[in-house]
Amino acid sequence: MGKPLSILSLQGICAYYGELQALFDIDLDLTQGDILALIGANGAGKSTLLRTLTGLTTVGGKTRLTGRMAFEGQPIESLPPERIVEMGIALVPEGRRLFSRMSVEDNLLCGAYLPIWRQGARRKLDEIYALFPRLAERRRQIVTQMSGGEQQMVAIGRALMTSPRLLLLDEVSLGLSPAAVEELYGNLQRLRNELTIIVVEQDLQRAMGFAGRAAVMLEGRVVLANDISKLSREEITTAYFGGSGHASPQTKMPVQGVH
Ligand SMILES: Nc1ncnc2c1ncn2[C@@H]1O[C@H](COP(=O)(O)OP(=O)(O)OP(=O)(O)O)[C@@H](O)[C@H]1O
Ligand SMILES: [Mg+2]
Repeated sequence: MGKPLSILSLQGICAYYGELQALFDIDLDLTQGDILALIGANGAGKSTLLRTLTGLTTVGGKTRLTGRMAFEGQPIESLPPERIVEMGIALVPEGRRLFSRMSVEDNLLCGAYLPIWRQGARRKLDEIYALFPRLAERRRQIVTQMSGGEQQMVAIGRALMTSPRLLLLDEVSLGLSPAAVEELYGNLQRLRNELTIIVVEQDLQRAMGFAGRAAVMLEGRVVLANDISKLSREEITTAYFGGSGHASPQTKMPVQGVH
């Protein structure tokens, strides 16, 4: 077998919101097919890192990025978001951001906004309906009349319309019932064999079941990164809380089930 292909390489990434530095010197390498769980407390910088990968922190004037990012060997740190999506990175943002008055299918089609994606949109829709059978049944329904889990499927489906090779999922299970989370991750299983994925997931047990690698962020830094099989629950907890390994009474992290 040949050497696994590098799909993503970050070197010394720092990101700033105005004066505030949100990411510090992030190095990260993913090879094709990796499934990485990005873990960390509120405000650790998980969403900022995903947004940075899609060029979103470089727009808007006040944000700034330094360091190097390469996707499939091509530098992307100075590219605008639309170019990065076109190259093959898609983000499912926190909070879904669907078009509330539109149907499921129209929301999905909005994902395919470039001519190159439009051409294959019909076939892509069929793939997405095969992945999320619930959406096929409800393709004409207005998205706001759907359950949270179904809306999340639409958000993921919309990202898939661009045929990404790297998919970034930001808290896709947030606010969903346990049954909805189960169904969603059940549907996502098939993507694991087809794509490279970074998933931000607060339910650590779920993240560990889905991903093969984990990176723990603390205050804007990646403080631990390894194959999940090589990480112990204690190591992850210690990294998550920044040293002591003990949860303070106010903080809760679901770490059950990780050894
Ligand atoms: N648009 C923004 N403007 C200014 N500061 C921001 C902005 N977005 C995030 N931040 C700050 O950047 C830091 C990292 O936030 P980020 O949203 O990336 O964390 P997170 O790990 O995704 O947290 P959560 O688990 O709550 O989603 C925080 O200190 C946050 O307050
Ligand atoms: Mg976030």
